[in-house]
Amino acid sequence: MGRPMLRLHLPVLLAALTMLAAWGRPAEASAQAEAPRYVGSAVCAGCHPGQYERYRQYSKKAHSSRGVKLMAKGLTPEELASCYGCHTTGYGKPGGFTDFAATPELADAGCEVCHGPGSAHVDAGGDPALIKNKLAMADCEGCHNAERVRNFNFKPMLFAGAH
Ligand code: HEC
Ligand code: HEC
Ligand code: HEC
Ligand code: HEC
Repeated sequence: MGRPMLRLHLPVLLAALTMLAAWGRPAEASAQAEAPRYVGSAVCAGCHPGQYERYRQYSKKAHSSRGVKLMAKGLTPEELASCYGCHTTGYGKPGGFTDFAATPELADAGCEVCHGPGSAHVDAGGDPALIKNKLAMADCEGCHNAERVRNFNFKPMLFAGAH
């Protein structure tokens, strides 16, 4: 009973799989090429001058590399690198901060630590669909984690500390 069904469906299945395999490769490659990268807050300033100006003036993030640079002398390279994930933009991620000399535009915790890497949004002339706008506390907790909240007795509110 099952045999005619199999004979009918196997070639169809194989053809579908072959098509999928052929289609999967270029799709993967282009997804990689188009994965958004970090551009730095100064690029955002060009189109969002209000948010940028308030961030630059009032947010401690806008100067978050300062404390790390001041303390760098007393730290091993490993200890110093452990600061970057929270005090800079995109450390350890594609197109993110690597070090102060190579990526000065990402030295502080910029717009993109909350809104995510912005190159696709920028390249598309500011397409709102290509940037994260709905934020939740989970987007803060990677850096404002439980240990810090306890040690510094400070838990930020979602709409604080940016612009
Ligand atoms: C990539 C890490 C990172 C993420 C993500 C992050 N923060 Fe921060 N935030 C920091 C650092 C680092 C400081 C302290 C900067 C300094 O003083 O050098 C800070 C400081 C603050 C402050 C202190 C007061 C001020 O005006 O700057 C507030 C409030 C704050 N963050 C809110 C938030 C909120 C809300 C979110 C999520 C929507 C968030 N942060 C996400 C790293 C982060
Ligand atoms: C898990 C994220 C995280 C890591 C890792 C981290 N920091 Fe911070 N740092 C913060 C946050 C968030 C604040 C703001 C105060 C708070 O909420 O804890 C802060 C505050 C500071 C401040 C106070 C700045 C001010 O405005 O007074 C200094 C200095 C500092 N960090 C230096 C460092 C150094 C140096 C390292 C590495 C050894 C480091 N931090 C690692 C998240 C982090
Ligand atoms: C600490 C996290 C954080 C940082 C850093 C941050 N933003 Fe935001 N941003 C938010 C939150 C939260 C909202 C409100 C989202 C919502 O309405 O749910 C927002 C909203 C926006 C909006 C939508 C319009 C508005 O003002 O509500 C724009 C545009 C924007 N941000 C641009 C920027 C730019 C440019 C920077 C850097 C100069 C920046 N943001 C840095 C958290 C952040
Ligand atoms: C070429 C101009 C341009 C640049 C550069 C730019 N944006 Fe935008 N952005 C826009 C436009 C246009 C909109 C849609 C209209 C609006 O909300 O102001 C927008 C909307 C947004 C929104 C709201 C999205 C929504 O769902 O409503 C956020 C958040 C945002 N931008 C963040 C950023 C960040 C972060 C950067 C830097 C990485 C940046 N933008 C760089 C033009 C730009």
